[in-house]
Amino acid sequence: MTDAAEAGAAWKVGVLFSQTGVTSAIESSQLNATLLAIDEINAGGGVLGRPVEPVVYDPASNPKQFRVLAERLLQVDRVRLIFGCYMSSTRKAVLPVVEAGRGLLFYPTLYEGFEYSPHCIYTGAAPNQNSLQLAKFLFEHYGNRFLLVGSNYVYPYESNRIMTDFVTQSRGTVVDEIYVPLNAGEDDFAKALKQADKARPDVIFSTVVGQSTAVFYEAYRKAGFDPATMPIASLTTSEAEVASMSAEVAEGHITAAPFFEVIATPAAKRFVAAFKRRAGSDAPVTAGAESAYFQVHLAAAALARAGTDEPEQIRQELRDAEFDAPQGRVRIDRENNHTYLWPRIARLDARGRFQIVWNPGVRVKPDPYCVSQSLDDWSADGLQQIRA
Ligand code: ACM
Repeated sequence: MTDAAEAGAAWKVGVLFSQTGVTSAIESSQLNATLLAIDEINAGGGVLGRPVEPVVYDPASNPKQFRVLAERLLQVDRVRLIFGCYMSSTRKAVLPVVEAGRGLLFYPTLYEGFEYSPHCIYTGAAPNQNSLQLAKFLFEHYGNRFLLVGSNYVYPYESNRIMTDFVTQSRGTVVDEIYVPLNAGEDDFAKALKQADKARPDVIFSTVVGQSTAVFYEAYRKAGFDPATMPIASLTTSEAEVASMSAEVAEGHITAAPFFEVIATPAAKRFVAAFKRRAGSDAPVTAGAESAYFQVHLAAAALARAGTDEPEQIRQELRDAEFDAPQGRVRIDRENNHTYLWPRIARLDARGRFQIVWNPGVRVKPDPYCVSQSLDDWSADGLQQIRA
């Protein structure tokens, strides 16, 4: 037990989401959702009668800053539990620090998979919970000739490797794989759009993140392409990135995620309303925010059961832990520290709002190393096996 807990003081937790820099829009949604969950917990009397106190820093979308601030949280602020990170480059910068400092990172973002740390709880989608479903949907509705365009860092490389596997399994073709800087401007997309014009793929799979997303979609529109026959499909184009596009630019493009702001279940509506009350009526609610929200509630329940924020005990309490999240009931997988989630696919409509176009109502077990899932498994039998 920490000194603070022994003294009956607040449970201090670290919060690391960028409020500035290239991914500040999506990370601000994750920050707001984290603070909303903490507010709710404190309004209900805290954890074992003690309030949860967030120690919040702005790592400015910069992996080095993330590492330095994680060190500060663990060594100076003496927190054990940290909620944070969007880009995989920032998670990879933070994780060795958290491991060495014997802390626990709660990571609420879709990522490339192929990772496990006993010091990390992964609550965003693994590739078998979004890439696989997106690939299958795109093959059925558009075709299997793909152009891959991504930001220049680890998540896009690895996500493209997985998507290339799926395309290859379907006997399709990757016509090209192009990377742009993280802060790409219009000119940086010229090569990708030229290639789209020349090779005429069925789909552009975008792993562009953050501010450059709107630049890319605008450049695509300006070049006169038609999303009805060659949409941009992405896992990283959320409500936060769409908020800086016009509806005309956004229309027709596709995203796969376990949560969208438009989900109309009572739990989703309650979450969206509470989020907007706290963050403002225009604040976009994203899948990353929803994971950020439910992971705090899961952590608080584990804290209450453990009576300590000692990471190993919290991790034990999180094995098979469930929570009625806005997306549906989620569960932490005891085998791999990832989360059972509810895949969905949405298309942006003429008002620039996501509309769900595929929602099988199936909770999918996380398989971060893609051990058991391939395109061939996406059958009724495969679904039965992964139905939780
Ligand atoms: C990501 O970098 N995991 C989006």
